[in-house]
Amino acid sequence: MSRARRAIDDPADPADPTSLQSPEDPHAEEQTRPMNVTAPRFTGQVAVVTGAASGIGAATARRLAAEGASVVLADIAAGPGEAVAAGIREQGGAAAFVTADVSSPPDWERIADRARAYGAVGVLVSNAYTVEVLPAHAMTLASWERQLAVNLTGAFLGVKALLPDLREHGGAVVLTSSVHAHKGIPGHPAYAASKGALLSLCGQLAVEYGPEVRVNAVLPGPILTAAWDRVPQEDRDRSVAETAARRFGRPEEAAAAIAFLAAPEASYITGSSLVVDGGWSVVKASA
Ligand SMILES: NC(=O)c1ccc[n+]([C@@H]2O[C@H](COP(=O)([O-])OP(=O)(O)OC[C@H]3O[C@@H](n4cnc5c(N)ncnc54)[C@H](O)[C@@H]3O)[C@@H](O)[C@H]2O)c1
Repeated sequence: MSRARRAIDDPADPADPTSLQSPEDPHAEEQTRPMNVTAPRFTGQVAVVTGAASGIGAATARRLAAEGASVVLADIAAGPGEAVAAGIREQGGAAAFVTADVSSPPDWERIADRARAYGAVGVLVSNAYTVEVLPAHAMTLASWERQLAVNLTGAFLGVKALLPDLREHGGAVVLTSSVHAHKGIPGHPAYAASKGALLSLCGQLAVEYGPEVRVNAVLPGPILTAAWDRVPQEDRDRSVAETAARRFGRPEEAAAAIAFLAAPEASYITGSSLVVDGGWSVVKASA
C-alpha cells in the first residue's frame, strides 16, 4: 500500500509521525522530535559490572565506559580484570578493577566503596556466573550451593549493597540470565535453576523498588566467550545450526542489549527480559 493511500485509510499512519499528533497535545513536538541516537547515554553515571574480566561482562564494561560511564569492574580473575580496566583507561575511559567474589558480602562493601569514589552508582550489571556440568544425581550439595551463591545470591547481594545509590538516583539494574532459564540442557540443574530464579527476582525487584529503580534481565543464547572453551566442536556447530542467525553472537551484541536496558531510553521498561540469542529460542530443530 502506498504512503498516500495508507494515510487516507488510517489517520494514525505509523510511517507519518505527524499523523499521531492531536492539536491539543502539549507533548506533540517532543514525541515527534528525532532521538539523538549518537549521544553517549551514560555521561556522568557510575556503573558496576560483575564478571567483567571476560566475555559479556568485559564487553559491557567497555560499552558503558565508551558511552561516558565511570565503570567499576568486579571479578575473581584479577589479572584479566585489571587488563580490561587498563584497556578502557587507554581509550580515555574511567575504569577501576576490584578483585571480588560476588557471593561475598564483604567483597560487595569493597565494590561499593570503590564505586562511590566515582560518585553514586546509577547502573548495576549483575553478570558473573559459575557452572559445574553434572546431572543432579551426581552433583554434590556443595557444588549446587556454590552455583546458586554466585549466580543468584550474587545478584541479591549486589542490589542490597548498592540500593541506596540506585534508589536515590533513579538507577537501573540488569541481570544476566540465560535462555536456559526456559529450556533444559543436560548437566545444568543448578545453572538453569539459578538463571530461572533470576527472572523471578527481576520481577520482584522491579515491583519492590519501582518507580525509583528499573530492573530488567537479558537472556543470552550462544555468545562466543570463554564459556564455550570447554564445549566440543560438534556441540558448538549444533548450537549455531539451531539459531536463525546461523552464527554465534558476539559479546558486544549482548553488551548492546544490556546497555539499552540500562539507558534512559528504556525508561518505561522494567521487570522485563530481553532474549539475545540469534533466534535460538524460536527455532524448532526437528520436524
Ligand atoms: N556465553 C554464552 O553463550 C552465554 C549464554 C547464556 C548466558 N550467559 C551468561 O552470560 C554471563 C557472562 O558469561 P560469559 O559468557 O561472558 O562468560 P565468561 O566466562 O567469559 O565470563 C564470566 C566471568 O565471571 C567471572 N566469575 C566467576 N565466578 C565469579 C565470582 N564468584 N565472582 C565474580 N566473578 C566471577 C569469571 O572469572 C569470568 O570473568 C553469565 O551470567 C552467563 O551465564 C552466557
